[in-house]
Amino acid sequence: MAKKIAFFDAKDYDIASFDEANADGKYKIKYFETKLNEDTVKLAKGYDVVCVFVNDTVDEKVISQLKKKDVKLVALRCAGFNNVDIEAAKDKIGVVRVPAYSPYAVAEHAMALLLTSVRRIHKAYIRTKDFNFSLNGLMGFDLHGKTVGVVGTGKIGRVFMDICKGFGMNVIVYDKFPAEGAGIDYVDINEIWEKSDIISFHCPLTEETYHMVDEKSIMHMKKGVVLINTSRGALIDAEALLNGIRERKIGAACLDVYEEEADVFFEDRSGHILGDDVLARLISMPNVIVTSHQAFLTKEALTNIASTTLSNIEEYLSTGTCVNEVK
Ligand code: NAI
Repeated sequence: MAKKIAFFDAKDYDIASFDEANADGKYKIKYFETKLNEDTVKLAKGYDVVCVFVNDTVDEKVISQLKKKDVKLVALRCAGFNNVDIEAAKDKIGVVRVPAYSPYAVAEHAMALLLTSVRRIHKAYIRTKDFNFSLNGLMGFDLHGKTVGVVGTGKIGRVFMDICKGFGMNVIVYDKFPAEGAGIDYVDINEIWEKSDIISFHCPLTEETYHMVDEKSIMHMKKGVVLINTSRGALIDAEALLNGIRERKIGAACLDVYEEEADVFFEDRSGHILGDDVLARLISMPNVIVTSHQAFLTKEALTNIASTTLSNIEEYLSTGTCVNEVK
């Protein structure tokens, strides 16, 4: 009998890519628009697998409910797993993820944000739409010769480093776990704060990286620094960022992720009053660009996410383990 997958937080683009990957009908996939959390976990009854994304809540309570409902597996269709209580899942339910689907998608988006910001493309686009061809206020700066600090030299960080080198930038990097033999020269994190004109974050959200950008680290940064975050929102203390921008210490921020994004991102909120004052204030700043956790969203990435997720599910359900299991 076809195994049943309860698919949470389903969007049109997810449904299209998973239906394509499941064209042979091997799995019975039920798409739920709602996110998985304590209130919606009842929907998982009768399913073998729950398939979740970055803002679904898979905490201890949800895990124990899933176990009671005899769900075997939490299949994350993303790389990060900070929204899953891995300790609570141990010996109760399997957890698999998609460790890599397109590092290019995310690294290229980071560069797209940076170029948009420093060349004021977001402003110019709106001006010329309104037949305003004035250049006042649109002066940018060359990326060539600038120092970019890259935090996290995994799959995405390395692609981003290569892109920056192509622009003739001076790349300095920090990683808590430096890759040996990769020919990368690492610096310590203080050097990143002190020397970078631009800093881009490509490390996971952990207890250690939580709020790594806070009032203290901002104090050590260069005046006018541009911050790019395509990793996880909570790497940056959003209020400290806002203060840094108000004080003209931070020159610009390019944010694809936001600490409190779970209740806001991925949905059409136009016509609503945004309850999050910090986010509203950040968006109102001329030197802040926010995209709605969009960096992964390319055709190639979605195709890889769907095929890897389904093969993870197949491997786990047939062998009880999986090469992409999170332990
Ligand atoms: P990866 O696992 O290949 O690399 C992460 C790197 O961060 C590793 O080199 C690791 O040693 C390093 N790291 C771990 N702890 C650190 C610390 N305390 N300080 C500095 N570096 C540390 O991961 P990948 O694929 O490069 O992804 C990076 C992050 O990008 C993910 O954790 C995820 O949060 C985010 N992401 C965002 C997406 C988006 O759409 N905005 C899509 C995919 C990933």
